[in-house]
Amino acid sequence: MTQPFSIAIAGLGTVGSGVLALLARNGDLIAARAGRPVVIAAVSARDRLRDRGVPLSGIRWYDDPEAMVADPGVDAVVELIGGADGVARQVVQAAIAAGKPVVTANKALLALHGVELAAWAEQRHVPLAFEAAVAGGIPVIKLLREGLAGNRIERIAGILNGTCNFILTTMREGGGAFADVLAEAQRLGYAEADPSFDIDGIDAAHKLAILAALAFGRPVSFESVHVEGIRCISPLDVAFAAEFGFRIKLLGLAQQTERGIAARVHPCLVPEGSSLAGVEGVFNAVVAEGDFVGRVMIEGRGAGAGPTASAVVADVIDVARGRTTPVWGAASGALSDAPSAPMSDHAGCYYLRIMVTDRPGVIADVTAALRDEGVSLESMLQRGRAPGEAVPVVLVTHETNETHMGAALARIALLDAVQEAPTLIRIEQI
Ligand SMILES: NC(=O)c1ccc[n+]([C@@H]2O[C@H](COP(=O)([O-])OP(=O)(O)OC[C@H]3O[C@@H](n4cnc5c(N)ncnc54)[C@H](OP(=O)(O)O)[C@@H]3O)[C@@H](O)[C@H]2O)c1
Repeated sequence: MTQPFSIAIAGLGTVGSGVLALLARNGDLIAARAGRPVVIAAVSARDRLRDRGVPLSGIRWYDDPEAMVADPGVDAVVELIGGADGVARQVVQAAIAAGKPVVTANKALLALHGVELAAWAEQRHVPLAFEAAVAGGIPVIKLLREGLAGNRIERIAGILNGTCNFILTTMREGGGAFADVLAEAQRLGYAEADPSFDIDGIDAAHKLAILAALAFGRPVSFESVHVEGIRCISPLDVAFAAEFGFRIKLLGLAQQTERGIAARVHPCLVPEGSSLAGVEGVFNAVVAEGDFVGRVMIEGRGAGAGPTASAVVADVIDVARGRTTPVWGAASGALSDAPSAPMSDHAGCYYLRIMVTDRPGVIADVTAALRDEGVSLESMLQRGRAPGEAVPVVLVTHETNETHMGAALARIALLDAVQEAPTLIRIEQI
């Protein structure tokens, strides 16, 4: 009789409970695909009495997840606690030390400590799988690391945070203010009580750092990702973007440039007809451009119990089957040492919204600042007439670079007539 594959699950929250439910419902087909039954031998969470909506009878309970890792009846450990440090990191380290394969959904851990964990896992020949860490149910890790392994990847771009995409979609559809739509997202369970990780772009940057490492075959480097969030986006920007034929999306973008790998997360204007513009609500999507395959795009649910459990269980099946791939797609020693390109290298077109006092000569001052820094304009829009009051002026530039744009912006911000910090959004043709 085939020996079952016994897993321990650390963390029984949204994802952990989802994994239990999935294994219970699809046990037969998972056994067939794994080549042996997958059984849950042990679980750990903080509150033993909490109803998880899934039966836990017959499963060993541990208050201490590290002690669970040492359970001799456990073949592999699934870490679903979360957080870059603390107990999640200790559990993963303990499992690698014990020679037990690890499956995790923890993007923060991978983005911040992925280099050291991968090297250590490799040294000890322990699989470390993390499909669920990026874009939930979308198999983007497999896409980049295995499906496109024969390609030189030129660029990746993605909508990597469902909370931000929900907020931006809802603002566009209903015209609501950022703070109101954020509160609605919180009520619906799409945003955390403390939403800063999502809306300030950190979560997307963790995921982009992981994707960039896989796409460009280099050690993961979160510090080199330029990060901006969506707090600055107002209903005015959403409406003006539409007038110019764009939608606003928080994108993670990484590409190979002459000066190294450029990785950035920030709000972008994308053409209304583009495929990423059509990815709405809590959905995620990733576009990859390879030298032989061309453009590939995958889209789906980037979070939630079901989609994330789907990715976790795919990894569990791989591990049970003995299918392993180096963590970053190639052995540590074979990874590239390509430098990171600084954000100041970025070139592109820009959307700029300025709130100015409606009086003669203001536009001339603004356009003079742009002209003096070598920034040329493609179009300009001024709406409303309110002498002496603040009115929005929106400018779209031709291609320029961060240095020129930054210098022009600094000058514009100092003008007497400018009432608040200008809003700058980069335009992406993707
Ligand atoms: N939620 C998603 O849609 C999603 C999507 C992709 C990736 N992820 C990642 O998946 C991981 C889990 O996320 P989640 O949303 O499921 O989190 P969650 O709902 O907050 O669940 C966390 C679980 O960890 C347990 N836990 C916390 N501290 C512990 C400790 N010291 N010892 C033992 N257990 C402890 C909690 O126990 P109690 O229940 O007893 O409090 C809870 O069951 C994170 O890395 C997250 O980034 C989540």
